[in-house]
Amino acid sequence: MAKRKSRASSAATELEKKPVEELTKAQAKIELTRLMFEISRHDQAYHQNDSPLISDADYDALRARNDAIEARFPELVLPNSPNARVGAAPAEKFEKAPHARPMLSLGNAFDAEDVKEFRERIKRFLNLKDEPLVITAEPKIDGVSANLRYEKGKFVLGATRGDGQVGENITENIRTLKDIPQEIESGNFPEIAEIRGEVYMRHDDFAALNQRQKKDGKPVFANPRNAAAGSLRQLDSRITAARPLRFFAYAWGEMSALPANTQMGMINQIKSWGFQTSDLMKRCESLEDLLGHYQAIEEKRAGLGYDIDGVVYKVDRLDWQERLGFVSRAPRWAIAHKFSPEQATTLIENIDIQVGRTGVLTPVAKLHPVTVGGVMVSNATLHNEDEIARKDIRVGDQVVVQRAGDVIPQVVSVVMDKRPKNSAPYEFPVICPVCGSHAVRETDPKTGKAESARRCTGGLICSAQAVERLKHFVSRNAFDIEGLGEKQIAAFWEEGLVKSPADIFRLKMREEAGEIKLNAREGWGATSIANLFAAIQARNTIGLDRFLFALGIRHIGAATARTLAKAYGSEKAFSEAMRLGQDRQSEVYADLLNIDGIGEVVADALLDFYAEPHNQEVLEKLLTEITVEDFDMPDETSPVAGQTVVFTGSLTRMTRNEAKARAEALGAKVSGSISKKTDIVVAGPGAGSKLDKARALDITILDEDEWLSLIEGATS
Ligand code: IVH
Repeated sequence: MAKRKSRASSAATELEKKPVEELTKAQAKIELTRLMFEISRHDQAYHQNDSPLISDADYDALRARNDAIEARFPELVLPNSPNARVGAAPAEKFEKAPHARPMLSLGNAFDAEDVKEFRERIKRFLNLKDEPLVITAEPKIDGVSANLRYEKGKFVLGATRGDGQVGENITENIRTLKDIPQEIESGNFPEIAEIRGEVYMRHDDFAALNQRQKKDGKPVFANPRNAAAGSLRQLDSRITAARPLRFFAYAWGEMSALPANTQMGMINQIKSWGFQTSDLMKRCESLEDLLGHYQAIEEKRAGLGYDIDGVVYKVDRLDWQERLGFVSRAPRWAIAHKFSPEQATTLIENIDIQVGRTGVLTPVAKLHPVTVGGVMVSNATLHNEDEIARKDIRVGDQVVVQRAGDVIPQVVSVVMDKRPKNSAPYEFPVICPVCGSHAVRETDPKTGKAESARRCTGGLICSAQAVERLKHFVSRNAFDIEGLGEKQIAAFWEEGLVKSPADIFRLKMREEAGEIKLNAREGWGATSIANLFAAIQARNTIGLDRFLFALGIRHIGAATARTLAKAYGSEKAFSEAMRLGQDRQSEVYADLLNIDGIGEVVADALLDFYAEPHNQEVLEKLLTEITVEDFDMPDETSPVAGQTVVFTGSLTRMTRNEAKARAEALGAKVSGSISKKTDIVVAGPGAGSKLDKARALDITILDEDEWLSLIEGATS
């Protein structure tokens, strides 16, 4: 199953789950930044690489969360917010095709309430009293959108949506589609006419195509949409011609004359010019009509022979569409009412308990493998024991699983009719399955309620926790030791080579003294061992922020670690504060709580960690092996302080991470995408669309050397 990169910080993960209403302003800012990067990554995977990493429902959930946070904190909206762009910038290989009118996206509705709100918004906006508000409803085709431009009746340009402003010129490929007329002679066909719609593949054609691909030893496509996208973006149009692509028209771009004054009228015209349009489009006068037609389409969904993922509603009157206009990326006069995420039924073969870094026991359902929304699923999270009890989930049950919210599938419900007679309620273990210590549910001091998580009390005697902490210790935002990832750590732990962080830095010495024999391990030669030692040595000096994050203390994510590093400056000052702060009446404790972003929960987690003798021992040993550098305060006087910098292309004299860290230390803001607010673009070899965009926006562009000399002046 596709897996998203594991996130190093549990605090970050907790933040991701926090309801929008409960976010503080500082947290909202972090979340918006995270969502901006996350959404942009998925846009790229979807639009440029044709290989989505998550389901549409998950993607929509990310966007919905972003929008809700933006609505609550309008002042925090980022200049490069996902709403400031549609899709991803065009891929490099095709010529660019600027759109005469932008190709926009659609906002989403997920339930009847959202649809009601959509209608009411329109009524308010247009100040409608008794006039009927007619809205069309039609299937939302799950394919790739395209713009077809005709001049004097001749097809002259075919383009993908791209970023909504500029697409890719795929004219020759579009020409090969049998559904698309090359020439239109109808009397009322405007001199300039752009027809928009969706290129898609039918299920039967998709299955046959994949069979051919398999026979020819070529890769098969994950789903019809990817197959359509991949086929459409072939550089050799003969390949496209051999692919069974079809086209549904549902909209238009530039038109020198409008032959109708309603959506329905326009679609009928477009149909009369020879395009395929949906037979399922209906005019609806009331909310009930809309929802009724939504249901009717959903019922037909399985039998249509092609994928649809919702129903699109559009205001019928074009003069009203005009008045309603657009908000950022989507028209006010249209919305997509999405179908609920895809589900499947399967057997729970077992329930496994996994023990995490902080000792939380997480139940995971081991499923009989089943495909859900095109992805094979064999595990589903059961969250915690309350969730299992609430849904009464038992081993041997048939359950409905769905992929939503994240790639990790969830169990929605139990199919009670199919429950085996002899089944018994699941008993959640009260001892840790890994180390045998008691597993308890702490009470939240504020609410007095038991926490939902049951935790192993074994601390570091619990091997699961010890291993997970070590994995965290070497993770990307922590020590980030090349060649020492999760797998190796687990193996080294098993073999007794690394039991605590300090052991990592003693490997070389122990190998040389003959105490351990890394070279006896399978697949490990002199070179790989030398490389590992070099990588470890390269990290024996570390910044205070990374160091604090690496300790894996509960609630201390990368951002909090940085806050603490900034506040205390040095390891010495920090550990001193942890010693003195044990006295909750002390000034030191008050100071800790006074730091922006540090509340009691975080403060207590820190102090508890430092109070634990075992942790002190681990720290002491570690500190004899490594040097913790004082926190580099961002230099507000540097020439790049306060500037927004984007790195693109490959860098040769530093890694991306180094470049970013240096820039940030000098007070610059490093961003992943270019917008009007970008000040400097540092472009290395191979820089592509970002560089073009920077040129178009007249942004300062530096090569790596120029950048280095700019900042060297600042640091020397
Ligand atoms: S109307 C300005 N109608 O969905 C509104 N879009 O999520 C233009 N789509 O970019 C779009 N079926 O690629 C419209 N019946 C339909 C659609 C449809 C599929 C796609 C289209 C659009 C995306 C928005």
